[in-house]
Amino acid sequence: MTFPTHRPRRLRRTAALRRLVAETALRTDDLVAPLFVREGIGEPQPVPSLPGVAQHTVASLRREVRRLRDLGVPGVILFGVPARKDAEGSEAWNPDGIVQMALAELRGEVGDDVVLMADLCVDEYTDHGHCGILAPDGSVDNDATLAVYRQAAVAQATAGAHVCAPSGMMDGQVAAIRSALDAAGHESVAVLAYAAKYASALYGPFRDAVDVTIRSGDRKGYQQDWRNAREALTEVRADIAEGADMVMVKPAVTYLDVIARTRAAVNVPLGAYHVSGEYAMIAAAHRQGWIDGPAVALEQMTAVKRAGADFILTYFAAELAEALGG
Ligand code: PBG
Repeated sequence: MTFPTHRPRRLRRTAALRRLVAETALRTDDLVAPLFVREGIGEPQPVPSLPGVAQHTVASLRREVRRLRDLGVPGVILFGVPARKDAEGSEAWNPDGIVQMALAELRGEVGDDVVLMADLCVDEYTDHGHCGILAPDGSVDNDATLAVYRQAAVAQATAGAHVCAPSGMMDGQVAAIRSALDAAGHESVAVLAYAAKYASALYGPFRDAVDVTIRSGDRKGYQQDWRNAREALTEVRADIAEGADMVMVKPAVTYLDVIARTRAAVNVPLGAYHVSGEYAMIAAAHRQGWIDGPAVALEQMTAVKRAGADFILTYFAAELAEALGG
């Protein structure tokens, strides 16, 4: 009888050995919490398809951001739900719009202790639900949209955002935002580009959270085709050339190959968005008693880091921070 001399199980025998040789660690410092703030409500409203997530009032948002700060979570990203939507999404750049008001309050509340990111898009603000201005044929007009993104960037920066995060997948959006910010004296506001964002079916619960119904069509004319990975690197490189300080891949777990390839190709900080559908699948199966939700969440986020992400936007941020400690 011969036995193998290489015995990987030697290093798996005890928890301390496993800790010693672990290659990847998920830390509270890697987490960004997506938060929704809605205009014109008196109480936070739960989002049924995102159990545990709510549309906040400005007051409950302040409490939530204080809680996240106390848990050691370094960043939040804000999404607004306006009381009034129109064809252009003008509440996205109204200085008194819901996200701008919330940013100003939060900046007063937590100062620079939490990185305040603002999702920069107009789909939450348009009555047709698309991420930009519609051309007469119903397609999204790229360059007309860049003009409104520029205004939104300046409004967010003026209100106190540390980071603007353009998510609309218009060509040239990073250059447009960067130049608008610089021209308005906001050279120090950073840009996190949703660089490789796929036309995913996993955004469904998010659209409930922001009350968006796409009136006609879909987002396949501007978001990426999920059959493509090389194309993601073209998007990422273009965004960095246009001035993105950080780039992001979205969704996360279905796109681990894209995260790994992006990590190998560029050196800027890399984020990944574990999106609403990814959260909802775990939360729903957990509620059924079919999987151990917190264990799956930890495994998935660690996989996203193992693939090469530096930080993760996740609806599990508070829960993971509680488990991981500050
Ligand atoms: C666009 C935006 C979306 C998400 C983040 N920013 C929706 C979309 O592109 O349709 C989705 C996030 C999620 O599903 O958690 N403003």
